[in-house]
Amino acid sequence: MFGKKKNISQIDAEQLELIQNAQRRIKQKKRLYTHFVIFLIGSLFFILANIILGIGKDFKIFEIDWFVFAILAWLFILLYHVFNVFITHKFLGKDWEKNQLDKLVAQQQQRIGKLKEKFVKEETLVAQSEVYNEILSNPKKANELTIIVAAGENNAIGKDNALIWHLSDDLKRFKTLTNGHHIIMGRKTFESFPKPLPNRIHVVITRQKDYQVPNDVIVVNSLEEAITYSRKDVQPFVIGGGEIYKQAMALANKIELTRVHETFDADTFFPEIDTSIWKETSNRFHKKDNEHKYSFSFITYKRI
Ligand SMILES: NC(=O)c1ccc[n+]([C@@H]2O[C@H](COP(=O)([O-])OP(=O)(O)OC[C@H]3O[C@@H](n4cnc5c(N)ncnc54)[C@H](OP(=O)(O)O)[C@@H]3O)[C@@H](O)[C@H]2O)c1
Repeated sequence: MFGKKKNISQIDAEQLELIQNAQRRIKQKKRLYTHFVIFLIGSLFFILANIILGIGKDFKIFEIDWFVFAILAWLFILLYHVFNVFITHKFLGKDWEKNQLDKLVAQQQQRIGKLKEKFVKEETLVAQSEVYNEILSNPKKANELTIIVAAGENNAIGKDNALIWHLSDDLKRFKTLTNGHHIIMGRKTFESFPKPLPNRIHVVITRQKDYQVPNDVIVVNSLEEAITYSRKDVQPFVIGGGEIYKQAMALANKIELTRVHETFDADTFFPEIDTSIWKETSNRFHKKDNEHKYSFSFITYKRI
């Protein structure tokens, strides 16, 4: 109904050129062969003409019969022909030769490009699998999962889904430490922010399957999933709140604690730090002043 497609010859320009060159080559060789046969017959004729028919019997050069020189001269021409066919025009002329060389170079470059691409892909895969194996065999070595928290003397951390104090130097420290890193948090802590913090990757944990978040915020359904997601980060931070801290204590390698030297009324608390597991490695005191209603200390703990 719609007609049949015509069977178009699939010989492309390159194939046509190769066929034409092959034909030229065959012609050249045929001509050389004919020359050779004529040379043999001609030489035989010279010999017979001289010896049997006696043509130029007395014509000698340096006591050598003339036909020997004639045959040698012809042989020289024949050799030149051979040279022409097999050496000078071995590749059917300079243009053809250059053309073939260009093609060869292009093919080689293509091959090198493909090899390079393959090499880069393999390198990336090897690197990725090495990182993955390292994480599996030793999670501590892979990254430094760090809890960052501000807690009162009674471990109070929040009330009515908000912080209990405002300490600007503590916020500055939080910003400096977490800048550029993954920050892992519970859904309630995320909702306590007016908006996502700049220059950090937010990983929000919730049991809800269709929890809606702004673009660039990552939603996961467990702490383990959050840690897995943050594995490429050398130091992902767990930033709260109470529920998530409790679960992260067994997995973290480091705690950056701001101990606020006051006891607070709260509904959310940080777990007790077990000093048989955690070793204090630094402690810096910050006194109370006009901007800071309470004195506090920046304390770093590392897992023993
Ligand atoms: N002082 C500080 O340094 C600090 C830091 C951060 C927060 N805070 C304070 O802490 C309080 C919030 O802490 P919070 O304990 O109430 O809440 P949260 O830990 O921030 O979030 C709890 C929510 O996380 C989700 N979740 C917890 N465990 C999960 C699990 N295993 N799998 C899946 N989802 C899980 C649940 O979300 P769904 O209900 O959606 O399933 C749960 O309701 C606020 O007052 C905040 O201001 C203080």
